[in-house]
Amino acid sequence: MFLRNYWYAVAWDHEIKRSPFGRIVCGEPIVLYRQTNGALSAFEDCCPHRLLPLSKGFLQGDQLVCKYHGLKFDQRGECVWMPGQEGVHKDTKIRTYPVAEKHRFVWVWIGDPALADEAKLPDLHWCSDPAWVFEGSTYHVKCNYQLLVDNLMDLSHETFVHPSSIGQHEILEAPIKVTSDERSATVTRWMYNIDPPPFWAANLRSFEKCDRWQICNFSLPANVMIDVGVALAGSGAPQGDRSKGVTGIVVDLMTPETETSTWYHWGMTRNFQADDRGLTFRIRDGQAAVFAEDLEILEAQQENILRRPDRALLDLKIDAGGVQARRIIARELERSAAARVK
Ligand code: FES
Ligand SMILES: [Fe+2]
Repeated sequence: MFLRNYWYAVAWDHEIKRSPFGRIVCGEPIVLYRQTNGALSAFEDCCPHRLLPLSKGFLQGDQLVCKYHGLKFDQRGECVWMPGQEGVHKDTKIRTYPVAEKHRFVWVWIGDPALADEAKLPDLHWCSDPAWVFEGSTYHVKCNYQLLVDNLMDLSHETFVHPSSIGQHEILEAPIKVTSDERSATVTRWMYNIDPPPFWAANLRSFEKCDRWQICNFSLPANVMIDVGVALAGSGAPQGDRSKGVTGIVVDLMTPETETSTWYHWGMTRNFQADDRGLTFRIRDGQAAVFAEDLEILEAQQENILRRPDRALLDLKIDAGGVQARRIIARELERSAAARVK
């Protein structure tokens, strides 16, 4: 059902503190906390005694205590104390998960721990580069993660869903180019000599005609980075000179919770007016409002998909990028199922 041998963003780094934090990833309840030295621990979120989520519990030093009857676990998941008896039952251990912290996110690996390797974390270098500013947030969306991938790989929806901020009619008219390989797909759209929509006019600080681009890149398991921006028309942006324009990378990390719900971590990183903190938060709040518009669409879409199991999705030309992403995910799911059977 889910691609397991991947890193999934489970939270923003600032969200994991000195208290247990529970989150379901790919159907698995996980509890995380920060040790006194700042290092991270991630365990199955389930007390072996009466199965209460350990995220309801609390920390004593670096040990996690269950809220119900006080079973206590050390940083390796070993039970070190039980109530009402001498010592502890042998093998009372909770599963640990490989955990990493990079690019402002905390990541967990829910598959085979032997395969967890930080070199496999997605490349989000803009999110840690001092020349870029990155801010964002998280939405819990009641839809399958692939609906979010479809949405982000087909930005023609902006015209209808986001008319007051980033939508404009030219998006529908501009042709898209789709390329893909085994693990990623890219949709490229350029719009030439158009009026900048409100969001981009504000960032470009100009209402002059511009060239606008949207380059959406999907990579496994469910990450979409969108290179977006505008530059003064004819100033050379399509040829690679963006000096008369502004660029942002929209970061979208979809972490499946269940088959019909997703933790959607989103943000935008930019390298223009990087020292304007007010702008950073205005962009984040603007993005929150834009994505809230998507959320309403996606949840209504998921409800109808469940209501109408007799209906298949219809793929149009605009869906070419999403279709490629779905193929890549399906192939990878087949591959991992075959590997499990062997
Ligand atoms: S359920 Fe955790 S100690 Fe009893
Ligand atoms: Fe959208």
